[in-house]
Amino acid sequence: MVVLLRMPSDLPIDPEAFKRFEHTGWGEVAHNYHDSFGRLTTQAVEPMLDASGVGEGTRLLDVATGPGYVAAAAVRRGARALGIDFSSSMVAEARRLHPAVEFREGDAEALPFERDTFDVVTIPFGLLHLARPDTALAEALRVLGPGGRVAFTVWDAPRPPSGSF
Ligand SMILES: C[S@@+](CC[C@H](N)C(=O)[O-])C[C@H]1O[C@@H](n2cnc3c(N)ncnc32)[C@H](O)[C@@H]1O
Repeated sequence: MVVLLRMPSDLPIDPEAFKRFEHTGWGEVAHNYHDSFGRLTTQAVEPMLDASGVGEGTRLLDVATGPGYVAAAAVRRGARALGIDFSSSMVAEARRLHPAVEFREGDAEALPFERDTFDVVTIPFGLLHLARPDTALAEALRVLGPGGRVAFTVWDAPRPPSGSF
């Protein structure tokens, strides 16, 4: 399935200002993330890896890795996984939590990898925090090999229960 995201051209948001805002914010909360948001986002890790067919030998890039949950879980499945995040504080946290997994500092909008480097790119709870999500998705597709998969999770609004009373 292909999902096309089109950003309104008249959106009064300066992408670079948004990016600076995000970068500063994540740097400040990185040390608290694992005991707060991490308890929520880790619930989606295994379903995401199942949906994207991650197993022994899968080459996986985890973009906006934060504390590295998806990359670490992929390694536990036998994948060759690497996590990347633009916040040095988040990368430090990921390395602290998962010392056996590789993490690098890098920007989702300019991935420092060649074409056909990965089988799967994951963006767990990252897309809505990116200044240019369309550019990041194009980058994810660029570094994938034939048959590659991109998987992402995003926050959603609470829904009222279905059915009537
Ligand atoms: C909500 S956290 C998600 C962390 C983790 N993936 C999870 O599921 O818990 C969003 C992450 O996106 C990262 N991020 C935001 N913009 C980025 C960019 N342009 N390139 C790389 N990482 C970025 C932040 O540093 C932060 O770690």
